[in-house]
Amino acid sequence: MRPQSGLSRDDMRTVFGALLAAVAAVLVSAGELPRGSYSKTCTLKPLGAGRDDTDQIEAAIAKCGHYGMTVFEPGQYNVTRKMTWDLVGSRVDMHGYLSFVPDIDYWLNASNTYRVVFIQNQASWFVVTGHDFVIDAHSSGGINGNGQPWWSHFHTVTREDGDGRPIAFTLKNVTRALVKDFRIESQPFWCNTVADSSEVVYDGMYCNATNQDPLYAGKNAVPNTDGINTYRSDKISLYNWDITCGDDCLAIKGNSTNIFAKHITCRGGNGIAFGSLGQYVDLPDIVDNVVLEDLKMIRLDPQVQPNMANGVYFKTWTGTVNSSPPTGGGGGGGHVSNVVTKGVSLDNVTVPVHVYQTNGGHSADAPSTLQFSNLSFIDWTGTSQRSTLVDIECSSGAPCPWMRFENFNVAPPVGTTATVKCVNVVSESGLPGCSTITTA
Ligand SMILES: *[C@@H]1O[C@H](CO)[C@@H](O)[C@H](O)[C@H]1NC(C)=O
Ligand SMILES: *[C@@H]1O[C@H](CO)[C@@H](O)[C@H](O)[C@H]1NC(C)=O
Ligand SMILES: *[C@@H]1O[C@H](CO)[C@@H](O)[C@H](O)[C@H]1NC(C)=O
Ligand SMILES: *[C@@H]1O[C@H](CO)[C@@H](O)[C@H](O)[C@H]1NC(C)=O
Ligand SMILES: *[C@@H]1O[C@H](CO)[C@@H](O)[C@H](O)[C@H]1NC(C)=O
Ligand SMILES: *[C@@H]1O[C@H](CO)[C@@H](O)[C@H](O)[C@H]1NC(C)=O
Ligand SMILES: *[C@@H]1O[C@H](CO)[C@@H](O)[C@H](O)[C@H]1NC(C)=O
Repeated sequence: MRPQSGLSRDDMRTVFGALLAAVAAVLVSAGELPRGSYSKTCTLKPLGAGRDDTDQIEAAIAKCGHYGMTVFEPGQYNVTRKMTWDLVGSRVDMHGYLSFVPDIDYWLNASNTYRVVFIQNQASWFVVTGHDFVIDAHSSGGINGNGQPWWSHFHTVTREDGDGRPIAFTLKNVTRALVKDFRIESQPFWCNTVADSSEVVYDGMYCNATNQDPLYAGKNAVPNTDGINTYRSDKISLYNWDITCGDDCLAIKGNSTNIFAKHITCRGGNGIAFGSLGQYVDLPDIVDNVVLEDLKMIRLDPQVQPNMANGVYFKTWTGTVNSSPPTGGGGGGGHVSNVVTKGVSLDNVTVPVHVYQTNGGHSADAPSTLQFSNLSFIDWTGTSQRSTLVDIECSSGAPCPWMRFENFNVAPPVGTTATVKCVNVVSESGLPGCSTITTA
């Protein structure tokens, strides 16, 4: 392992079996060819104010994206239309930012973005595909999403899932890749998505959606600015993330397996989500083997971002189909099992641990059949805004076995007594007051 990977031996030891091999393979095979060994190098400089950089970027990637090296010198690169990079056996060094023009009407026209992420029919303006590559932005480059005009716009215009607001950075159909020290400034919508991919390591990711318009002070002015959504992907590792957002810091969606995250800071928003799941009646969602370690939830000044809703939460739709995705849905099955959350520190979060299976539902709906089992909560500290520290409400259609708590030391508000709520929990350990049921 070369030191440039940024992972210490100790970090590596804590990675569980399957991922250890995956991470090592990526860092060695994709990661670190000596720079001289690429067959060609393309170097870019921003053209400057009023000019469009999209052509020169596409030309460089077409020439050097396979078995070559592409270097972006510092500055802002003006991107005016959708762009795909296909990277194979190559390296991209970004010392500057791809700055996507905030032309909202243009991007909301569906023909001007890609619809490559199936879940909720989301739009992407920048897609990377391929295998065995490195994108290193040296903490001095990445993407400028120019989000403020978008956030302000959608205070007067209704927003919906699937309405075409673009994901800032999409990895789609990627195998063995490393994204390193990448910055995304003011994402208009989701910051990252990884879909239909495997063996991807993100080491160093910064996303910051912070409203600067005084008109919206005190409100969550940056909805749906999730740090990442993982979907239909295997062996994805997230190290050293610093996410400021108004929604899910990380969202583990359907068919995410062998996911490892470590050193994650979430500033504001909803915390870390599993879900939503079970939205598509004909597509079971399977989430298995997820380890999340060293997580920090930080509440921001409520004038800047009023929400810090959860530590970690799990949500499914009900068992009834209520209209169709992207905005409606439900009735989907599947399971979430073998999740470990370890070393979590909370700063005044509203509900530290929450499980519910009634997303988007009505009271008469059939219970969800999506099964949660073996969720572990180890070494939790910090403070909760309410006295209910744990609220696990599993579906009567799929009661939850093996809920495990160890060193769960979150403090309720001063002067209150901590309570926990457990509904349809089959078995638990380490959580006094959690009532369990027996199943037939
Ligand atoms: C980006 O390019 C467009 C099209 O040429 C131009 O109108 C616009 O001024 C450029 N933006 C910046 C920030 O340079
Ligand atoms: C959407 O963009 C396409 C391609 O640029 C264009 O032909 C079409 O007229 C646009 N639609 C609207 C409603 O602007
Ligand atoms: C995914 O990528 C592989 C090679 O990297 C390619 O052969 C395949 O066609 C791609 N699949 C899709 C659905 O784009
Ligand atoms: C996020 O951006 C805001 C506005 O520019 C800034 O005040 C804040 O310090 C940034 N947060 C981080 C963690 O860099
Ligand atoms: C998840 O994987 C299972 C098994 O391969 C498949 O049946 C299901 O359709 C997949 N679900 C999604 C959301 O892709
Ligand atoms: C629970 O999950 C842990 C971690 O993935 C795993 O080691 C253990 O075998 C699982 N236990 C059961 C009963 O499935
Ligand atoms: C927790 O956050 C709420 C909402 O921002 C605030 O009113 C309250 O004073 C905070 N409590 C502590 C102990 O910081």
